[in-house]
Amino acid sequence: MPDLNNLRILVTGGAGFIGSHVVEDLVRQGARVTVYDDFSSGYRENLKEVQADVRIVEGDILDFEALSNAIAGHQIVSHQAAQLEIIKCIDHPVHDLTINTAGTVNVLQACIEQGVEAVINASSACVYGQAQSVPEAESHPLKPNWPYGASKLSAELYADYYQREHGIPVYSLRYSIVFGSREWYGRVLTVFLKRLLEKKHLVVFGDGGQQRDFVHVSDVARLNTLLVRRFNNCGEPLNVSSGTGTSVRELAEKVAGLSQGTIDIVHESIQPGESSALVEGRVRLPSELQTMILSPNRATQLLGWKPQVGLLDGIVEELDWLADHISRWTRFKV
Ligand SMILES: NC(=O)c1ccc[n+]([C@@H]2O[C@H](COP(=O)([O-])OP(=O)(O)OC[C@H]3O[C@@H](n4cnc5c(N)ncnc54)[C@H](O)[C@@H]3O)[C@@H](O)[C@H]2O)c1
Repeated sequence: MPDLNNLRILVTGGAGFIGSHVVEDLVRQGARVTVYDDFSSGYRENLKEVQADVRIVEGDILDFEALSNAIAGHQIVSHQAAQLEIIKCIDHPVHDLTINTAGTVNVLQACIEQGVEAVINASSACVYGQAQSVPEAESHPLKPNWPYGASKLSAELYADYYQREHGIPVYSLRYSIVFGSREWYGRVLTVFLKRLLEKKHLVVFGDGGQQRDFVHVSDVARLNTLLVRRFNNCGEPLNVSSGTGTSVRELAEKVAGLSQGTIDIVHESIQPGESSALVEGRVRLPSELQTMILSPNRATQLLGWKPQVGLLDGIVEELDWLADHISRWTRFKV
């Protein structure tokens, strides 16, 4: 039942993969939502289910005046906009820093000036860097392995500053690997799914022993909505994750299992930073994480939230979506 009672919420990056699911869930629960997005990686099509109920403002989070004008009159801001490309953050770290850190500071400053009551700040598992112990709780050391993680961590520190000095609750949500319909093309699951549809063998770099934590986008959206309902005055970082590790090899087996035995898995021996000879245009990321498994216990304690969509069910849902949207996945976002 809708119960957000016409709460006015602005979602930056609301036309993106996660943002559009967050928007849909909020609208279904009765919120009045504005999307603020520059459409650099987002799509109007992502909002087609709710387009009649959503106001869309095309704008850049770096344009403080436009952002501030858009935020005026909203009670809550959900900040999902970011630059996520890992190769780009390595080659152009100042660009990454500007969008992710300065962009977040703009959002926080505009929220203070416009009297917003609370903020959600989409952060990332990348703030932790290499796992020193698993599952990683929010108290795990913060040593990002990529500039992207550093810019997201820096955004969290600004969020903390605004919360302390201006008294505005800001929850930084450290998403693990989010998957599901409308995902962008780039990470290992998406490469496997596209190759499955193209009836090509799945290519695993190395032995595929790296462990990853997958959380379905509908669970992420549900957590965002729960948080909006239960804001208090002490925001704290929260992992948004399954708490379960899946190796890249196991992931490949799950995807190959959907082919009724027609697709094999092959291993390619390439070093981090090298290009694949088997998957055109694909580079093995430098400074890759070995293990990433985040504990969702704090989110469970605070919100009673637990992920509900299992990995295989979520993969099937994403594959169904992909079959109708294959033209969206032409360029790697890495
Ligand atoms: N996808 C994941 O697994 C994952 C994991 C960890 C963290 N995150 C975080 O979740 C958030 C959403 O990521 P996503 O996967 O949906 O990515 P996405 O690229 O699909 O969405 C980002 C959205 O932000 C918009 N945007 C980018 N720069 C902008 C700017 N300067 N001004 C206004 N809008 C801008 C894009 O057009 C897009 O709609 C990001 O903050 C990201 O860092 C995502």
